Amino acid sequence: MPPIAPVRGTHDLLPDASAAWQWLLDTHRRVAGEHGYRLADTPVFEHTELFERGVGVGTDVVDKEMYTFADRAGRSLTLRPEGTAGMVRAVLGAHLTQHERPVRVHYVGPMFRHDRPQKGRYRQFAQVGVECIGERSPYLDAEVIEVGWRFLRALGIDDVTLQVNSLGDPADRARYRAALRAYYEPLRDQLCADCRRRLDVNPLRLLDCKRDAAHAERAPRLEDSLSATSAQFFDTVLDGLRDAAIPWTRNWRLVRGLDYYVDTAFEYWHSSLEGAQNALGGGGRYDGLAEVLGFAATPGIGYAFGIERLLLIAEQGGSLPPSPPAAEVVVCSLEPGQATAAAALARGLRDAAVRTVLDTSERKLGAKLGAADRLGARFCVLVGSDEAMAHEATLRDLRERTQERVSAAELGDRVRRALHPTPDAP
Ligand code: HAM
Repeated sequence: MPPIAPVRGTHDLLPDASAAWQWLLDTHRRVAGEHGYRLADTPVFEHTELFERGVGVGTDVVDKEMYTFADRAGRSLTLRPEGTAGMVRAVLGAHLTQHERPVRVHYVGPMFRHDRPQKGRYRQFAQVGVECIGERSPYLDAEVIEVGWRFLRALGIDDVTLQVNSLGDPADRARYRAALRAYYEPLRDQLCADCRRRLDVNPLRLLDCKRDAAHAERAPRLEDSLSATSAQFFDTVLDGLRDAAIPWTRNWRLVRGLDYYVDTAFEYWHSSLEGAQNALGGGGRYDGLAEVLGFAATPGIGYAFGIERLLLIAEQGGSLPPSPPAAEVVVCSLEPGQATAAAALARGLRDAAVRTVLDTSERKLGAKLGAADRLGARFCVLVGSDEAMAHEATLRDLRERTQERVSAAELGDRVRRALHPTPDAP
């Protein structure tokens, strides 16, 4: 029988990579926390309707990429392709904005999209994100973009260009959609099959088609359809970014793939990510989303980053922290008769907060020392019959290649001091 393979487009997080993963989550929690964002979590599956209404029928995510299934009661459920719709449902469903406005939350978790898998693009991937729900102010747009910018800096990721655009309000968008239709309709026969469909259901998406890029280049520009109010809102966002010394590129073709955006839309691009995968993260304002989901109109803005893409770039740039060793100490009995004494010594070391692995194998001493070395341990504690009788242990320093006898009672303190020397008190 062949071994069972992982599902295409999924990947495992193995121990050597987990320290980097944890570092990224800690960094996001710290940076978001410094801006008053608190952790929140929502379920991995939701009613399909949440995404159909929130993200929008006609978007690639909803039409082509959702993992949708009927549960045993026949209800249509979907593995979340993104976190914003669920978070807005959770925050407004719990009436949080009645006590606090805006509500600032950050989150982390797996998302699912039936995308074509390749480097940096998976069917199960993870995001970290923030949402700021309950207030409409251009200063909040600038704040959210700055949280993301500071997060990237804290990860040591540079070479990022911030792409910004304003999608205007729904009336601006309607005007722009009409302008796009008028421009593209005579070109219909020259468009790819996808774009012919987009022309009917979602003309904004025509702008980011790679095949029809030449047409998009000459298409009417979104900024020409913005009302004075929308343009001024966006100018204030850009002023906020200037004040925060965050450079941006105004990208009039940036429309984002989810329908809920109005006004500010942005993406953080990295030069070494290619093609459609060049975004490390993105977000925008979604003031109409709450109403579409059946709640009272409530503005909001947020971003999400793809964790796998961030780690890929941090690794290339050399900013990943080294993976700590699995154990600081390995305790080995020399013969089966000393197994109980060895286990007691290991317990004492753990009581002293030393990361300790007990070698329970019947391998020869040389093999045990080799295994301890591969685990990255600094010390090996050896217990033979002599040591066991005397309530002692042999402490072997694998780095200095020295060894000494230490009493069992002192072992924990002795090892902890050697591993984490504290400067002498004055
Ligand atoms: P999004 O642009 O669809 O936005 O996704 C955000 C990020 O998730 C992308 O920039 C990318 O790094 C990562 N990502 C997306 N799809 C994949 C994939 N198939 N494989 C690996 N990584 C992927 C959103 O999801 C919005 N909810 C962001 C937001 C928050 N807007 C407002 N608040």
